Amino acid sequence: METRLTTDPEEAAACIRQGQLVAFPTETVYGLGASIDHPDAVAAIYQVKGRPQDNPMIVHVASVDEVPSVALRLSASARTLMRRFFPGPLTLVVPRTERVPRTVSAGLWTVGVRMPDHPLALAFLRACGSPVAAPSANLSGRPSPTSWEAVRDDLDGRIACILQGDGVRVGVESSVVDCTTDPPVLLRAGGVTLEAMRAAGVPVEPASAAHLAQGRSPGTRYRHYAPHARVRVVDGPAHAQAGPDAAYIGPTAPDGTFAAVERVTDADAYAHRLFAFFRECDRRGIQTIYCESIPEERVGRAVMDRIRRAAAGS
Ligand code: TXA
Ligand code: MG
Repeated sequence: METRLTTDPEEAAACIRQGQLVAFPTETVYGLGASIDHPDAVAAIYQVKGRPQDNPMIVHVASVDEVPSVALRLSASARTLMRRFFPGPLTLVVPRTERVPRTVSAGLWTVGVRMPDHPLALAFLRACGSPVAAPSANLSGRPSPTSWEAVRDDLDGRIACILQGDGVRVGVESSVVDCTTDPPVLLRAGGVTLEAMRAAGVPVEPASAAHLAQGRSPGTRYRHYAPHARVRVVDGPAHAQAGPDAAYIGPTAPDGTFAAVERVTDADAYAHRLFAFFRECDRRGIQTIYCESIPEERVGRAVMDRIRRAAAGS
């Protein structure tokens, strides 16, 4: 299959309406979408990505008016979070309607819903005329793509179309919040911080080990975000081994000679650059990537989650 590249949201949406797969930009990372009204296309996403069948997908909507077509009911907390953070890097897990096929929800009674904060994504979703199920547009296990070129590296020849946008603004995925419990539970840290949700008056809690063990967040069972290189989480440059096969990313500039160094001034910059840096290191054949720890607050929570997961498998 030849993968078409386009900057036209109408052209990309026409593929979706025909039951094909389209990668599209959002403010977090690129997504790989299919219409929820084409269950076969949704099923094909699992094949193309090599994604485990029991990992549900997020449904993307063009407006809050579309939410009731996929969400059976919203708790008071879910409504507050939606009002405050849609559009934005936040996914709400809520009871699903019959319209959501089992291929999307992986058999769960819930669905994750999100409205991206990205003009091209919203133009595309509007033109699709139906909600769009989409995981991140990477091969399963690889770092999420933060540019259309990264999508092409993973999926060229396997999908109908890539909607080309600029590089992403956030760089890590949306926060996933389970709103079926009271208080709601953060299943995955992401672009909307725990602190911001609490400031909005919703007492979201981090997921406990027990919560995750119940299988509420299937995605957290799998290895993720991993470059080919080994990833080591370190407290600072003193704990990193410089060399021609090593790379360093973090707020502190290392002294030694590394093949690549990414100096990030704060947690937002770290999130923005992390996956792109992983992919750059792989292209250059780097063997070890040292990632400096940062405090687990605000977006730092998402950064630490991603680098720990990347390190866990290597
Ligand atoms: O920013 C993002 O969220 C990006 C862009 C494309 O929107 N999407 C994304 O999708 O990261 P994905 O599939 O790579 O990650 C979705 C996460 C997985 O960990 C999945 O298990 C979880 O959300 N998830 C989706 N639906 C769920 C549900 N009904 N219950 C619990 N977890 C759910
Ligand atoms: Mg993903």
